[in-house]
Amino acid sequence: MSIKSEKVKKRIVSGIQPTGNLHIGNYLGAVKNWVELHENYDAFFMIVDLHAITLDQNPEKLRKKTLEIAKIFIASGINPDKATIFVQSDVKAHCELAWILNCTTAKMSDLKKMTQFKDKSLKGGTDNAGVGLFDYPVLQVADILLYDTELVPVGEDQVQHIELARTLGRRFNSKFSETFVIPEHSVTKEGKRIMGLDDSTKKMSKSAKSKYNYIALLDDEKTIRKKVMKAVTDSKNGITYEDDRPALKNLINIYKLLSNKSISEIEIKYKGRGFGDFKKDLADIIVEFAIPLQERINSISDDEILEILDKGAKKANLIAEKKILEVRKKIGFLR
Ligand code: AMP
Ligand code: TRP
Repeated sequence: MSIKSEKVKKRIVSGIQPTGNLHIGNYLGAVKNWVELHENYDAFFMIVDLHAITLDQNPEKLRKKTLEIAKIFIASGINPDKATIFVQSDVKAHCELAWILNCTTAKMSDLKKMTQFKDKSLKGGTDNAGVGLFDYPVLQVADILLYDTELVPVGEDQVQHIELARTLGRRFNSKFSETFVIPEHSVTKEGKRIMGLDDSTKKMSKSAKSKYNYIALLDDEKTIRKKVMKAVTDSKNGITYEDDRPALKNLINIYKLLSNKSISEIEIKYKGRGFGDFKKDLADIIVEFAIPLQERINSISDDEILEILDKGAKKANLIAEKKILEVRKKIGFLR
């Protein structure tokens, strides 16, 4: 491929925290979209360990999860020769730019509005939450702005953070002259917000209290079947996709996204049939997706992954270093 056609590709950047169990919400809301997009974009996917430590982490587990997420990316179909896969903390410029943005553009009032901070600090109260958790969105903004990112493919819960990237990017540009590309977000229609299987009013979450909230990508067959059969539905009859049936709507979305059948095809297939039949087939579909994925994950060695992450970090550093130098000059650092 010529340098010219390489440059024409738009840049996408996204990340996932190496915490908890990656679930089908993460896959359908983010990773699946990345697999499709990375063929036609200049893609950077990172494992955001600096974000993970905004909450307490067990160091050994954090290392293990970081490798696991990288394996999941590859096993899901992201080609490491096409996309740059790297660990956030391998690129020091992320912390540096976050600090500079903290001082030059980010306001307390910007961060006070962020819902993720409110949710995550709920238990201990905001006064007891770590400063890093409060500043989390600015680090995410740095992740995005460092790479002249045009598009950020994420689930709906992240849109607020991408808006912040636009705000801080614009503020910096007007204060210090044109420096950052102003990014847009990309969310998928049905996958953007997969709801909990035990409670369709809340999103499926890695940190949910009950394991019946989510289906982890690494759940075994028996567990997947049990979780699907236990998923909450409603007291109406039939399999129909309607706003006033949020629990069933969520299950149909999962069915649709994993089977590539349309919603009307699904409704027609289950006409006159009940939840039992539908759930059994949905469990089959999830098992057929997850078990081969797990086999692919298990076939990748730690050494192979470390090599991919080394290569990714080198490539990411080249771009990030250039941008941070430009920023340092503009704000008045000596070199
Ligand atoms: P996190 O688990 O917070 O690191 O999220 C990783 C990616 O998965 C982000 O793009 C999230 O927006 C997305 N995501 C997380 N939970 C869900 C969900 N329940 N539905 C759709 N996307 C999700
Ligand atoms: N905050 C994101 C999440 O919890 C993860 C993330 C960190 C991210 N940096 C990013 C996503 C940059 C997109 C771009 O899901």
